[in-house]
Amino acid sequence: MFQTPHWYQTAVFYELYVRAFQDSDGDGQGDLQGMIQRLDYLADLGVDCIWLLPTFPSPLVDDGYDIADYYGVHPDYGSIADFKALIAAAHARGLRVIADLVLNHTSDQHPWFQASRRRQEPYTDYYVWSDTDQKYADARIIFVDTESSNWTWDEVRGQYFWHRFYSQQPDLNFDNPAVQEEMFKVARYWMDMGLDGFRADAVPYLFEREGTNCENLPETHAFLKRLRAMMDAEYPDAILLCEANQWPEDVRPYFGGDPTDASVPGDEFHMGFHFPLMPRLYMALKRGDRSPVADIMARTPAIPPNSQWATFLRNHDELTLEMVTEAERQWMWEQYAPDPRMRLNLGIRRRLAPLLDNDRSRIELLNSLLFTLPGSPIIYYGDEIGMGDNIALPDRNGLRTPMQWDAGFNAGFSTASELYAPIVADRTYGYQRVNVADQLSNPTSLLLLIQQFITTYKTQPALALGDIRFLHHPDRAMLVFERIYRRERILCLHNLSDRGIAIHAPASHDLLADVDWSEGVMTLPPYDYRWLKVL
Ligand code: GLC
Repeated sequence: MFQTPHWYQTAVFYELYVRAFQDSDGDGQGDLQGMIQRLDYLADLGVDCIWLLPTFPSPLVDDGYDIADYYGVHPDYGSIADFKALIAAAHARGLRVIADLVLNHTSDQHPWFQASRRRQEPYTDYYVWSDTDQKYADARIIFVDTESSNWTWDEVRGQYFWHRFYSQQPDLNFDNPAVQEEMFKVARYWMDMGLDGFRADAVPYLFEREGTNCENLPETHAFLKRLRAMMDAEYPDAILLCEANQWPEDVRPYFGGDPTDASVPGDEFHMGFHFPLMPRLYMALKRGDRSPVADIMARTPAIPPNSQWATFLRNHDELTLEMVTEAERQWMWEQYAPDPRMRLNLGIRRRLAPLLDNDRSRIELLNSLLFTLPGSPIIYYGDEIGMGDNIALPDRNGLRTPMQWDAGFNAGFSTASELYAPIVADRTYGYQRVNVADQLSNPTSLLLLIQQFITTYKTQPALALGDIRFLHHPDRAMLVFERIYRRERILCLHNLSDRGIAIHAPASHDLLADVDWSEGVMTLPPYDYRWLKVL
């Protein structure tokens, strides 16, 4: 019994920061019109869905995750008309677009907060206010580098307000039905405009309850299920992607359905990020030992038939080390962030290529895992060409530098004399060396390889939809698994070490090299990989 896959179950995603992509009006900031000019690039790359980082009006304390108006577009990026034009232009190319939906909090500049702190109805109870800062003491602090409490005193109201992120991002009070209704309105507004869904930001924290860590509460799931029911009824093709940086067993309930029976359809999120897998890919690679990946996959529960994991190597935030042990975190910091400036909160603020010492074979290897392990792959803009980062910039800004289109003025990003952030221009990762134009004309470039990964992924439903089965190999550096779908089997081999490893492989078709392999022993070179369709 096989159902027809839903689009998001076989899709490749591209995470895009509008400010960094293309400046159309010469003000040094990327904008929506600029992005429209670059849509052909994304269509040619072969991705199916773009995930836009927040483009709302915002004082930009948290780069737009501090929303001051849910119904607008930040003037840096353009207007609502531009947003509509972007969706139309994307759809015309067969690309879908989802955007961040920040439910948990707003900016302190949002008119709701300004009214709430003055106790103006109906906004008095829109936020979480308290006379003491001792409530919900079991909730951890997330931005540990900048915040020392989840409560901040507000002079105007004469009370403390609750915030899980920056103190300029007060948490909304989801116990207030009016707040829940506001969020339904916001979601409808953007989907009416044609948006294909949302990456729902920071969802574990919507409700607070004394005596809990205020994460993943039943009330939170109940609200999210109502949101999903509304979408199913009114926008059946749109999706909700869950940002819950949690262990797999805690993410599982976000898919809904019956956590003990994966054959029951999900009724909460369509998709959820697999956060814990990500650092373990880096761990396994550095140790030359498959166990971190095999163990976390063994700990990953089955999800409903209408759901999908979302997998990624990097994103716009620090590489989070929240879902590892304290000892593993220290080890990861030592290995991947030797300079303290590379560290942020509980993570590492570096891009993919610099994390891997710009070593082509290891960059390929991790990308190969991204496309062959279960879950829809998400590419972070710029990683498809191996862009670098800039640790001299504060917070996560060093990972959000302008896209490197060509070797010309401002890397083809803008005609302005001053940009929102400097373009990476160092000897290794600078735009003169690392750019789209060069890689498009170089048949052995990383960009064209990623394009080939995407094309191959699309022709092999087993990679998107197949079950996974790990196979034993005596060498722990050899990661071997099969993806099995209907009658198809793809054997995926990954050598996590810097030495050749022999393996007996069955008669198969090598999907990437497009050659047949007759059964026998092959030696996989250091950090090499194979996608073998078993004949
Ligand atoms: C999410 C976003 C991050 C943001 C935070 C608060 O974790 O990915 O960029 O700072 O939520 O909104």
